[in-house]
Amino acid sequence: MTTLLSDVRLRPLTVPVSLDAPDAADFTAMVDVRNRVFEQISGHTDHTFTAAELLPHFQDTEDEERFMWLIEVDGTLVGRVGVDLPREKGSRTAYWLIELLREAWGRGIGSYAYEFVERTAREHGRTVLQAWAEQSPAPGDDTLAPRTGFGRVPRDHITRFFLRHGHTLEQVERASALDLTAPMDRIEKLHAEALAAAKGYRVVQWHAPTPPELREGYAWMKSRMSTDVPAGALEFDEEAWDAARVERHDNRYLEGGRTLQVTAAQHIVTGELCAFNELVIGQDRTAASHQEDTLVLKEHRGHRLGMLVKCAGLLSWRELAPQSPRVMTYNAEENRPMLDINEAIGFVPVAYEGAWKKTLQD
Ligand SMILES: CC(C)(COP(=O)(O)OP(=O)(O)OC[C@H]1O[C@@H](n2cnc3c(N)ncnc32)[C@H](O)[C@@H]1OP(=O)(O)O)[C@@H](O)C(=O)NCCC(=O)NCCS
Repeated sequence: MTTLLSDVRLRPLTVPVSLDAPDAADFTAMVDVRNRVFEQISGHTDHTFTAAELLPHFQDTEDEERFMWLIEVDGTLVGRVGVDLPREKGSRTAYWLIELLREAWGRGIGSYAYEFVERTAREHGRTVLQAWAEQSPAPGDDTLAPRTGFGRVPRDHITRFFLRHGHTLEQVERASALDLTAPMDRIEKLHAEALAAAKGYRVVQWHAPTPPELREGYAWMKSRMSTDVPAGALEFDEEAWDAARVERHDNRYLEGGRTLQVTAAQHIVTGELCAFNELVIGQDRTAASHQEDTLVLKEHRGHRLGMLVKCAGLLSWRELAPQSPRVMTYNAEENRPMLDINEAIGFVPVAYEGAWKKTLQD
């Protein structure tokens, strides 16, 4: 079937007040098409979100401005295109996505949607476009290495799309999974070793909402996620976090019915929070869990705090979500210290994501 681009329509997404609102149908349809695209690409449903889980992320736009359009062909929804603009002062960056159902690929629809991406970025003075896409090489594929030199993605349809539109492959992220149904003896042993090495620190754990007395410390560690994680030549704004931003962050999980567990290491003498790990699960506790941020502040590295917070987090997670079959996590392929910890714990690679960038000329 051929598509005339005159049949393609991009319609701005309406973000409803609630999922019961009369105008909520677009939002529910957007989440559904998003989930179908992710399932088609990955072959599993671990990336699935419910509309209730995603809605708070679209309603709270205090930290980034969000644009999204539904892509329709002859009135049928085939995908979505979005642009996020961080509100950090002086930000040059725009994060974008185009997600089309497989049956709509290769007909110029993605290229048409991409024009909206660049136009939106330019209109808002953003010159650095960045996007991520899951692309797992099959054995024997011709592949492309990122500028960091670590990892590879296949030279497939998605790679050709990014290259055709002027992007360069900056970094490859490894998605890894830990089987939570397997015995945890190895994690218990690593936990005991890390505890013994981390003299002068104690583990502090909470579930969102973050207790008021821990918000400033958590805010500082969250801000370091934007500066201290290997990023190759990708550009991330230094994020300013305070207790109010922590509250907004936590609310996005709480209002969507998700559980966020934070396991931190605290320096006993000063009371400073210096390392943390986040684990998240949605309302469906039989679904996959997701490990989100993990970081040890630079001044506190070398005491096995990364291993400590990860293992302590996983051990209590087993009590909290005993039916969740696995934990997913994402790390830059050149982030050896973090991959060493994950591999020792038992995480195995399951997929790869390319991180792409284009700098617009004036
Ligand atoms: C990456 C993605 C957005 C590309 O969209 P697309 O609509 O397939 O891309 P286009 O059709 O515009 O261009 C792809 C190919 O179709 C060709 N094409 C363009 N217009 C065409 C038309 N009218 N008819 C037929 N083919 C056409 C292009 O020449 C290009 O060919 P190539 O692969 O040899 O370079 C889409 O594959 C997708 O949604 N992938 C999953 C999500 C993803 O990875 N997104 C990446 C950004 S977040």
